[in-house]
Amino acid sequence: MTLPTPIILDCDPGHDDAMAILLAAANPAVELLGITTVSGNGSLEKVTYNALRMCAVAGIVVPVAKGANDPLAGKASAAPSIHGASALDGAELPEPNFELSPLTAVELIAKLVTECDRKVTLIPTGPLTNIAMFLQTHPELHSKIEHISFMGGSTERGNWTPYAEFNIWADPEAADVVLRSGLPLIMSGLNVTHQALATPEVLDRISALDTNLAHTVVDLMKFFATTYQDVFGMPDPPVHDPVALAIIIDMSVAKLVSAPVAVELTGLLTRGATVVEIY
Ligand code: RIB
Ligand code: CA
Repeated sequence: MTLPTPIILDCDPGHDDAMAILLAAANPAVELLGITTVSGNGSLEKVTYNALRMCAVAGIVVPVAKGANDPLAGKASAAPSIHGASALDGAELPEPNFELSPLTAVELIAKLVTECDRKVTLIPTGPLTNIAMFLQTHPELHSKIEHISFMGGSTERGNWTPYAEFNIWADPEAADVVLRSGLPLIMSGLNVTHQALATPEVLDRISALDTNLAHTVVDLMKFFATTYQDVFGMPDPPVHDPVALAIIIDMSVAKLVSAPVAVELTGLLTRGATVVEIY
């Protein structure tokens, strides 16, 4: 019998991060050891509150720890135009029903990786600040990391600047640490996540489940759809973050290509761009 893959989700909920939390907790192919949060779609306070509220609405009980408020270099970013003022607008969510871990994100990741009897897969779906800080402060734990499967970057154009995708743009130095780490990396960039669309047909299937959680998900995705239409002119919103996890659940869901990836750190117009050597 194949044991579930132990995972840690590092996120900035955010609507698509919220879907990744649900997938991580529900899919039997993975074992969600914990959730860590990073400033990105909203402030650290907002995204942490949102992670706890998603756990409450779905009955998820795992350790949740707050991570980095600022990127390794520069100042924190936010994306209210996409995720709203709360960073998770569009649905009535319950208040958190358990306390935040007293550990920092890096401390929780180190604890969970140390204690796990198998190698752990890290699933970052926001800026890579926490992951970079973990790799820098715990070189002794690199050998216990199976994969880092992250949502970020693009083989084509960006979405936050013409050449940079938001997660990488928000902390390019952290992305550089991860990309240079030598660990097994799987990058789910916009080129693949823009194929994972919350179409009306998908929302109808979820709505037909007729549970409180299903209706909450549909409400969140309908909000996400309005902002993606307004900002990007995309009628169906790409649900980016679950793709990084779906690949770990079933590697056949996407075509994986081995390629060197670097991040631009100094370009006046291209900072945060991922340079992927695919020919
Ligand atoms: O560019 C898409 C990424 O930025 C997603 O992770 C979304 O949640 C935002 O963080
Ligand atoms: Ca995200």
